[in-house]
Amino acid sequence: MSRFNSSYYQRFYGKDGAHDAERIHHLATAVHHISAWWGLSISSVFDIGAGMGMWRDWYRTNHPDVALRSIDVSEHACETWGHECRNIAEWRPRGKYDLVICHSVLQYLTNEECEDAIANIAATTRYVLYLELPTKWDFENVVDETGTDLQVYQRSAVWYRKRLGEHFRQVGAGLWTPLNGLPMFELEAGR
Ligand SMILES: C[S@@+](CC[C@H](N)C(=O)[O-])C[C@H]1O[C@@H](n2cnc3c(N)ncnc32)[C@H](O)[C@@H]1O
Repeated sequence: MSRFNSSYYQRFYGKDGAHDAERIHHLATAVHHISAWWGLSISSVFDIGAGMGMWRDWYRTNHPDVALRSIDVSEHACETWGHECRNIAEWRPRGKYDLVICHSVLQYLTNEECEDAIANIAATTRYVLYLELPTKWDFENVVDETGTDLQVYQRSAVWYRKRLGEHFRQVGAGLWTPLNGLPMFELEAGR
């Protein structure tokens, strides 16, 4: 049985878990509105490893005209929360999406799978990627071990930046934009 079963979601998304719909409301609002500040009108969103579907639900409620696509590798998540059953290391959609979300997913992939997933994510991101995952440093310094899955791959930020940097510029706060994409002021994003 897949590790991403009913007990997994209860364990990490119950009380004191990773995050909840209220926290995603703050995050999704911020991401949507900073995109507007950059002049983007987000009209399509692709949520990778969507889990309980909190991002998808936020968009459905607050921006019902936005085209939404959500995938997950877990049969349980797909059946319960209505996603397409896909593995981002092995599959990419045909088109591009204005905003791509990959929230707390890549730490579950082996190095090789993660490299393939980053290539697939890059191929499908038109304007903005929101990416969150814990690095080795995070586990040693900031992660709350009681509410976080520790059975994951712990890689360095250098490892991720090297691979992401082939496709993206890091803006900050989890946001990345495709190279040669949005023009930004020099101090608005990292190098
Ligand atoms: C920690 S949960 C995050 C769920 C959701 N993104 C959130 O932040 O609320 C990790 C999710 O990634 C999914 N996942 C793991 N590996 C995946 C893969 N290779 N392709 C797609 N989804 C994957 C799992 O099934 C699980 O639902």
